Amino acid sequence: MTIAVLVSGRGSNLQAIIDAIESKKLKAKIEIVISDREAPAIDRCKRHNIKNLIIKPSDFNSREDYEEALVETLSGEKIQLVVLAGFMRVLGERFLKAFSLKAINIHPAITPAFPGIRAQKKALEFGALITGCSVHFIQKEVDMGPVIIQACVAIEPQDSEESLSQKILNLEHRCLLQAISWILAGRVEIEGRKVLVKGAKYGTLPFNPALEEF
Ligand code: GRF
Repeated sequence: MTIAVLVSGRGSNLQAIIDAIESKKLKAKIEIVISDREAPAIDRCKRHNIKNLIIKPSDFNSREDYEEALVETLSGEKIQLVVLAGFMRVLGERFLKAFSLKAINIHPAITPAFPGIRAQKKALEFGALITGCSVHFIQKEVDMGPVIIQACVAIEPQDSEESLSQKILNLEHRCLLQAISWILAGRVEIEGRKVLVKGAKYGTLPFNPALEEF
């Protein structure tokens, strides 16, 4: 099963995917990693011999042209699933048309709460007592696509943006790997906004549906 990963930064979610593939827990191959900027995630690719490319939006006249370049590059790679792992850019119509229901994103909040950047800070400032992460298919509305899996953590009075982000990140890695694995195994069905993972166990926390492998 072939995947592409889009990144913008540190790349810890990318690293989780790389590690799971190398340890054979995830039966997939990363065909290409694309970043929109110079980023530590690209260094990870170099260390693990993974094809990588930086496509900078500033090199294009319009967002459409940039997305066209992304789509063309990915189409050339015969990608089955595109994983947005800390990709800090909103993708529009051109991309969504090409990868409708074939692209997922990890967001560090329980959607629909706290979309956009610094979701952990937003949860703290709101005074929420529970937050977490969501893996969802991408759609036009940022961070609002159909949800495959969510996981929650408690926010404690002493939490800072950093401590909360770290707690959530541990869940992110596991949720993302689990979602990829379910999709590649053909177990994910989608009807309208609702996603069903065939054979998964629903109804327990902190992960719903329950993790199986990660
Ligand atoms: C993660 O918190 C992800 O949910 C958010 O950006 C962060 C990326 O982290 N969209 P990393 O680059 O995977 O370490």
